[in-house]
Amino acid sequence: MDRKEFKLGLIGLGEMGKNLALNIGDHGFPVAVYNRTYAKTKQFMEDEVKGQAIQAVASLEELVKLMPRPRMVLLVVSSGPAIDNLIEELLPFLEPDDLIIDGGNTFFRDTDRRERTTAEKGVLYLGMGVSGGGFGARFGPSLMPGGSSKAYERVRPILEAISAKVDGDPCVTHLGPGSAGHYVKMVHNGIEYGLMQLIAEVYHLLKLGLGLNNDELHKVFSRWNQNKLNGYLMEITSRIFLKKDDQSSNRLIDQILDQAGQKGTGLWTSINALELQVPIPNIVLAEMMRDLSGQTEERQGINQIFHKSDRYLSKDREKVTAHLEQALYCGMILTFSQGLALLREASRTYKYDLVLQEVARIWRGGCIIRSALLEDIRSAYKKQPDLVHLLMDPNLAEKVRSSQKALRSAIKTAMGLNIPTPGLAASLAYFDSFCSPRLPTNLIQAQRDYFGAHTYQRIDRPGFFHGQWNRE
Ligand code: 6PG
Repeated sequence: MDRKEFKLGLIGLGEMGKNLALNIGDHGFPVAVYNRTYAKTKQFMEDEVKGQAIQAVASLEELVKLMPRPRMVLLVVSSGPAIDNLIEELLPFLEPDDLIIDGGNTFFRDTDRRERTTAEKGVLYLGMGVSGGGFGARFGPSLMPGGSSKAYERVRPILEAISAKVDGDPCVTHLGPGSAGHYVKMVHNGIEYGLMQLIAEVYHLLKLGLGLNNDELHKVFSRWNQNKLNGYLMEITSRIFLKKDDQSSNRLIDQILDQAGQKGTGLWTSINALELQVPIPNIVLAEMMRDLSGQTEERQGINQIFHKSDRYLSKDREKVTAHLEQALYCGMILTFSQGLALLREASRTYKYDLVLQEVARIWRGGCIIRSALLEDIRSAYKKQPDLVHLLMDPNLAEKVRSSQKALRSAIKTAMGLNIPTPGLAASLAYFDSFCSPRLPTNLIQAQRDYFGAHTYQRIDRPGFFHGQWNRE
């Protein structure tokens, strides 16, 4: 193969890297691949490459030398110090105007720092979120690049070709400068956590409260997925209930330990939202419920003391199921609203200049949170690019108005059955708090002023006041 053809080098042949390399190759772009362990590269070439223009190399130097200038190097390695080490090793071989793209789930502040480091050598940098798992990477992910727009224009034909398409429209755009891409991917994952928690709670209610078996659960989720709740997470959930376990006579779902893992993106989203003072209760709560699920000793001990008795609903199953569909829908709108509110504030604080309509557009396909709701969210921002909050969009407001009663009923049912639904409850509390003309925070201000002279503002006069609380 002619040296000039290799414009892109890919580093890291894990699940995502391998699939991205094959996807890029399928679209006619020659790609040179490198993995630290050469045996892995060799195996990939022998087992998985089928006619794509993919060339294996055994060293970083070889990878760089194979490409004409300006070069593009895509890193698909685990986030963290491994990327710093790799960049350090790679930089001596690169020249000004070459480009490094980090396609991992990287913490956005690391991306800003690395962009500054590579800029010292004139090397361009893109931080790119990639969503859709191995299958998405292979056949069309949602891509969330941020950083130098000059760099984006260079790599754009490849990204547009390999990304997911919705009605022919590629699920990729240049999101903004610096860490904009990795920030948007982080919030995508935060929303993912929030939605998964809501789905899990509804599953719990259907299973424990209404006694639905796995076949019935499959049917309910499949039916919901054909309607307004349509989305990737609903689709895989409906399928999960059918999967047989190959080591027992049960369904696999019933053999899985109820302790959720995490790799950090939900935590980053939660911490950053607290820093930016944007309330995202569904995402924080989802994070906390994963933590709680892992507290085995506490769960066992407390369960033994209080020994919660299970209750079942024998009647009204259909009515409750219908409420749950509406409740889930309402909770999902409120979870998306929280994520988008965070993006709005982050865009202002970090000067990303995000176009939220574009964020919704590229999330419609390929990614884990793709769902019918994103069409509504996209049109909300299309109509009003500066929309202050998604609940102020007439269409979404109407959807929440008509489903919030069912959300209340679902929570009441769950409480009566002793089944925890903290995610559903958090979304309702979020909604009710924003709807309240007056919050009880006047009392908090009074307490702060009482014990600490922190002052308060009045409703009838401007300025800050301190009360003489101990005087009559
Ligand atoms: C995606 C996923 C992907 C990954 C998450 C899972 O968009 O393709 O979000 O990035 O599956 O990192 O995160 P946890 O392990 O934290 O659940």
